[in-house]
Amino acid sequence: SSNDKVTIYFINRDGMKLTAEGNLEDSLLDVVVNNDLDIDGFGACEGTLSCSTCHLIFEDDIFKKLEPIVDEEMDMLDLAFGLTDTSRLGCQICIKKWMDGMTVKVPQDISDARQHMDIDTSS
Ligand code: FES
Repeated sequence: SSNDKVTIYFINRDGMKLTAEGNLEDSLLDVVVNNDLDIDGFGACEGTLSCSTCHLIFEDDIFKKLEPIVDEEMDMLDLAFGLTDTSRLGCQICIKKWMDGMTVKVPQDISDARQHMDIDTSS
């Protein structure tokens, strides 16, 4: 039902705010894909924890409420560019009702751990 939908805002690499709808228990990667959000290079490994292109930055309060991080995510996150204290991998975050209306930030730069290739979005 529409009750199970939450709205998530993404601040894209260019600073533009994108609005998306997600279903409970979808991952944030699912939300990006299902809403066809135009986020450069996002989710390159399709959620198999082998890139770090789904790196997202959360607000403090939100970050504290997320499910604990597991070693596999930590290892991959370590390879992400522009890592912050409130960084997580979007493909590992499942949508909960309380996330309705939250805003997540897409970092400026990404690196795809599989390709050892950096994508410079500024050029
Ligand atoms: Fe590759 Fe999340 S999409 S680690």
